[in-house]
Amino acid sequence: LNYQVPRTRKEIFETLMKGLQRLEYRGYDSAGIAVDGPNKIATDLNNNNSICLIKKKGKVKALDEEIYQKDLVDLDEALVTHFGLAHTRWATHGEPNALNSHPQRSDKNNEFVVIHNGIITNYKELKEYLITRGYEFESDTDTEVIPKLIKYLYDNRENSSVTFAKLVERVIQQLEGAFALVFKSRHYPGEAVATRRGSPLLIGVRSEHKLPSEHIPVQYNSGHHKEEVPDKNSHNRTDSSNAINSNGDCVAVEYYFASDASAIIEHTNKVLYMEDSDIAVVKGGELSIHRINRQAGEDPVRAIQTLQMELQQIMKGNFDAFMQKEIFEQPESIFNTMRGRICFDTHTVILGGLKDHLKEIKRCRRLIMIGCGTSFHAAVATRQILEELTELPVMVELASDFLDRNTPVFRDDVCFFISQSGETADTQMSLQYCKDRGALTVGITNTVGSSICRMTDCGVHINAGPEIGVASTKAYTSQFVSLIMFGLMVSEDRLSLQKRRLEIINALKVLPELIRKVLSLDEKIKIIANELYQQRSLLVMGRGYNYATCLEGALKIKEITYMHSEGILAGELKHGPLALIDKHMPVIMIIMRDGCYTKCQNALQQVTARSGRPIILCCQDDSEVTKNAYKTIELPQTVDCLQGILSVIPLQLLSFHLAVLRGYDVDFPRNLAKSVTVE
Ligand code: G6P
Repeated sequence: LNYQVPRTRKEIFETLMKGLQRLEYRGYDSAGIAVDGPNKIATDLNNNNSICLIKKKGKVKALDEEIYQKDLVDLDEALVTHFGLAHTRWATHGEPNALNSHPQRSDKNNEFVVIHNGIITNYKELKEYLITRGYEFESDTDTEVIPKLIKYLYDNRENSSVTFAKLVERVIQQLEGAFALVFKSRHYPGEAVATRRGSPLLIGVRSEHKLPSEHIPVQYNSGHHKEEVPDKNSHNRTDSSNAINSNGDCVAVEYYFASDASAIIEHTNKVLYMEDSDIAVVKGGELSIHRINRQAGEDPVRAIQTLQMELQQIMKGNFDAFMQKEIFEQPESIFNTMRGRICFDTHTVILGGLKDHLKEIKRCRRLIMIGCGTSFHAAVATRQILEELTELPVMVELASDFLDRNTPVFRDDVCFFISQSGETADTQMSLQYCKDRGALTVGITNTVGSSICRMTDCGVHINAGPEIGVASTKAYTSQFVSLIMFGLMVSEDRLSLQKRRLEIINALKVLPELIRKVLSLDEKIKIIANELYQQRSLLVMGRGYNYATCLEGALKIKEITYMHSEGILAGELKHGPLALIDKHMPVIMIIMRDGCYTKCQNALQQVTARSGRPIILCCQDDSEVTKNAYKTIELPQTVDCLQGILSVIPLQLLSFHLAVLRGYDVDFPRNLAKSVTVE
């Protein structure tokens, strides 16, 4: 909303489109937009307060082109008060097409339009009910029940002055599942209503003047929702975002609702994180937050926070792809993970977010590390060293499987939730599961203010900086280092472990330098990629500390090159995978100078004896290994438990080059999303 300088519709489009582009990593099979104003090709041109809806299958760029190419709306019209919606979708229900994309609408006149992130699990029952009441559905989405339901409630309202917020409150009482929702209606022009349950939603506030308050008080309805707008003079009103400043002048105020701060950071760094069941309303230039009842222990205000994230951090720089940029950022991202936490002189490690819980952690029954995808691999990679340093049993769990098994969890367990985004639905559900059983919960995330950050008892922010490429790279190595730092912190007073701790801390000090050396192998790796890119399959084999590298390397290859790839535990070679080996099957073997060196050499023998032609990742100057290799990638050597950080980088680079050579979009692999906020 803007009370001083009118905005043209073109400017409004640009703001919404830019926001969508920043969010594209969360899903990108179709996109849509709704703004005030008649659609030039619509049938109800003369109707006031019309909402123009434009939707398109494909990436955000396709929607952008549609808006400008087809001359659908008047782009030059200037607007003083405006509320627009935009959404980029990753399909859960219904194939990717324009009809299924959001905003979803109540009817052909677009009386209510809604955008939704999440999943509505009881949509079938709601849909059946609404159909019997004469409401016609046009999409295959779960979301469509929401605009239909709000229209149904509006059509059947007892009170003509029912507020938009009240309607939304009634809608969410009927919904099961997870959602972040933003509503727009031609019956409530210029008014925005948003709510969430289980899916993230934040509000950015931008004002040309200093905000009078950094807190928004929550307005409780105690079951009896006020039908009218709150009295402007009451103490309850929102005074932090007035359209009028203390001098009585008009102040330009803009509000942004978004699932992620990256969508709005170029407009404002002042944000407020909504809580589950909050209903936020922007009306007449004011933001207010409503809830039905105050729960015990609940904070009655929402603080406006200042984010530190800078725009250039989320830009691509000189690289061709975000993933490539993120791979090359690893010397710095690793350094940032350690910054201020490790004292290399005194050999102490302090993780501020965990120190108050250290006693409890040391006394626990076991550590359970839970995550999905790459984040799970970070747990696999550090399990062995954590067992050694903490002297505790360590379980590693894929969140989905952990839940499927109803795994027993006890009050004296410490459960780690590893998640780059901090939003992955399966990880979040396991967190709730462990919380319900009274375990201590620890978050290892890269996103401040994310759901997992807020739900856990304590945690570590990995400080890798925003990761945009869908295939995770720098977050993995930073998760890896964070977990190692945890082990170092827990073992600080164990005399018998001091030698080992020292060795690791010294190795961490020079790790960024060694990562730079590995990155300098890029050209060599590109040549190998040139040789491999037409293959259909690629096996990655190793064991011990480097088994996680095999899993993670194979995942990178699958994710972005669409080649079949498998991470194989070399110890299992003769129990099956050996049957795949012949002179045609490309195999990468990881053979480092660690406790598994001899066993890995045996595996190498078995592969070469079957005419396999292995590409070997090994330590520099290992003539024993290189003589049996078809090709080698020689890496600097570090302490065994950190070697996985160095050995994964060539595989990140290899997958990147393979994807480019195969002609695929590296940052946006088909069918995958960066942040999977549905089960
Ligand atoms: C998705 C992404 C993966 C990621 C996984 C876990 O599958 O495509 O790259 O590793 O989610 O995400 P998280 O944000 O919890 O680390």
